[in-house]
Amino acid sequence: MDTPIHAAPTRLAARLRRHLGRHAEKSFDWDAFPSNRGFPELARAQMRYIGAGGSPKTGDAATLPPGHFTLSLLHQPVGNYAACHAHETEESFLVLAGVLTVGWERDGDVVEVRLGPRDMILNARDIGHGFRNDGIEPVLMSISVDAGRPLPPRYLYHPRDTDAALARRFGAAEGRTLPCDPDGAHPLQTLMARHVVRRAELPAQHGPAGITRKVYVGSGGIGAEASRRELLVVPPAAAVAADACDGEEALLVLAGALTVGWEEDGDRAEITLGPRDLLLTPPRTRRWFRNDDAVPAEVWCVIGVHLPDAGRPR
Ligand SMILES: [Fe+2]
Repeated sequence: MDTPIHAAPTRLAARLRRHLGRHAEKSFDWDAFPSNRGFPELARAQMRYIGAGGSPKTGDAATLPPGHFTLSLLHQPVGNYAACHAHETEESFLVLAGVLTVGWERDGDVVEVRLGPRDMILNARDIGHGFRNDGIEPVLMSISVDAGRPLPPRYLYHPRDTDAALARRFGAAEGRTLPCDPDGAHPLQTLMARHVVRRAELPAQHGPAGITRKVYVGSGGIGAEASRRELLVVPPAAAVAADACDGEEALLVLAGALTVGWEEDGDRAEITLGPRDLLLTPPRTRRWFRNDDAVPAEVWCVIGVHLPDAGRPR
């Protein structure tokens, strides 16, 4: 950037900063979900970047206002679970650390899948789902709900209303837990299999400047009418020129560092994001990025769109 370090920030630079979620300056909230109070096995912590997600804490001044989607980080301790619930919108879980067990329930049958780092599930709307940490390390994941202000979840098997062991199994009757399987006999097995993305199995699209992307949701990935979700890997010294798209775009750095800039009426401003920092670029704002760091930047990108293919041209 040409602006001297001590110069007063321009209006554009100030606006850019207001769209930043700096991980180290944010906090995890252990009381984000009031329905978990009194149930230590349900305890989990939420860090809200965009909107409140499933939490009723919509007035949090440290959270960016949502457009088409919300984005938060969620920490789940070893052994804990989230009770089976459903809601009216699609919702993705991208695992960042640990191993997450996700269950989908229908009429007492539950299908479960285990997801490792960079694996994702898109929970279909109105399907009962819960998640549990059966691993040996805490789970950290990024959750995005496809509505700026989702309705509160409807709990199907909460331990306050049902047997504790049944709630932990997401409502599965004894012996009625099935694995996720694209060739399974139960329709819920095949439905879930179409909504799971494993990073290792997803083909990489190689673009200019050595930048690769894996499309999780959108054309080339799960073809849902949900916001696009992509994983970008930007090698050192790679850059993308200024461009704009019709939907808002969240860039969450998972590893490395990425310098992101905006351009407006001849003014330019930029900011460097480190791991777990997020920038939300409003619709029709010209933005660019480059990697000034020594290691590749791994970036989770969510673009709010109504149409599955209406993403940013690359
Ligand atoms: Fe949910």
